[in-house]
Amino acid sequence: MKPEKKYPSEVYLNGKWLKPDEAFISVFDRAFMFGDGIYEVTPFYKGKAFKQKEHLKRLQYCLDQIQVAFDAFTLEQLMYEAIDRTKLNDADAAVYIQVSRGVAARSHFVPENIQTTVLLYAFPVTLEGFEKKTWKVIATEDKRWHRCDIKSTALLANVMANEEAIAAGFAENLLVRKGYFTEGSHSSLFFVKYGVVHTHPEGHKILSGITRTEVINICADLKIKLVEKAVHIDELVEVEEIFVTGTTTQIIPISSVTHQDKKVYSARKDSVTKKLQEVFIKRTRG
Ligand SMILES: Cc1ncc(COP(=O)(O)O)c(C=O)c1O
Repeated sequence: MKPEKKYPSEVYLNGKWLKPDEAFISVFDRAFMFGDGIYEVTPFYKGKAFKQKEHLKRLQYCLDQIQVAFDAFTLEQLMYEAIDRTKLNDADAAVYIQVSRGVAARSHFVPENIQTTVLLYAFPVTLEGFEKKTWKVIATEDKRWHRCDIKSTALLANVMANEEAIAAGFAENLLVRKGYFTEGSHSSLFFVKYGVVHTHPEGHKILSGITRTEVINICADLKIKLVEKAVHIDELVEVEEIFVTGTTTQIIPISSVTHQDKKVYSARKDSVTKKLQEVFIKRTRG
């Protein structure tokens, strides 16, 4: 069963707070026509943002990459206002931001003098209890474009990958490019091999996950050896632990990986994942 998702009670659209059924954009908005927009999701633990600056910095990086002139940091206070307005101060929540290039008559070239469309809202999310979960996943070919570092609203390949997993009864789809794991359809990916944590290096093939960076920092602080090195699917026989990370995922261990209808991995250990989860909980709720 797929979880039921609810609309937020209020959204911020281009300077106004509106009920969702009163918030409209043009059919010529370029995010609607081309996926020509950037989004960001920031977690709020009991009303307090975690790594807000890092999320806004990534939003700014992505907007700069697609040459949309917009100052992401103008949204800093609005994010808290969204939490207040939807009375999520005492709950766990996240703030969704979407900045599209804006509305213009359809053309592949980027029109001049175009006004961005800005959408922002808060929604409740379960950030507790992830340490009690494990996920069974599939691994399939990474069919995304070559700029996965850009958090584009054009998520069709991610949606198709995730749906393939969910429809077959799995929780996530681990993506493989030329034999090497990149990341999950909506999560960053880590492997523990001979006690050393491995994750795909930053660059155009993965999103620079904010949770991923925090896990890398925790490894450094705990003196757990980590290398930013891609893991090949044939190396799974040597892998002891796999976990995925993300803003709403947190840190979840992978119990098994199925590839082309064959189980190619079953978790052998959990001690490194457990240590990282423990410190992550302290840092996000401390
Ligand atoms: C493709 C992809 N990779 C990684 C992540 C994790 O990023 P973060 O930790 O910043 O949420 C996400 C989050 O949605 C994602 O969609």
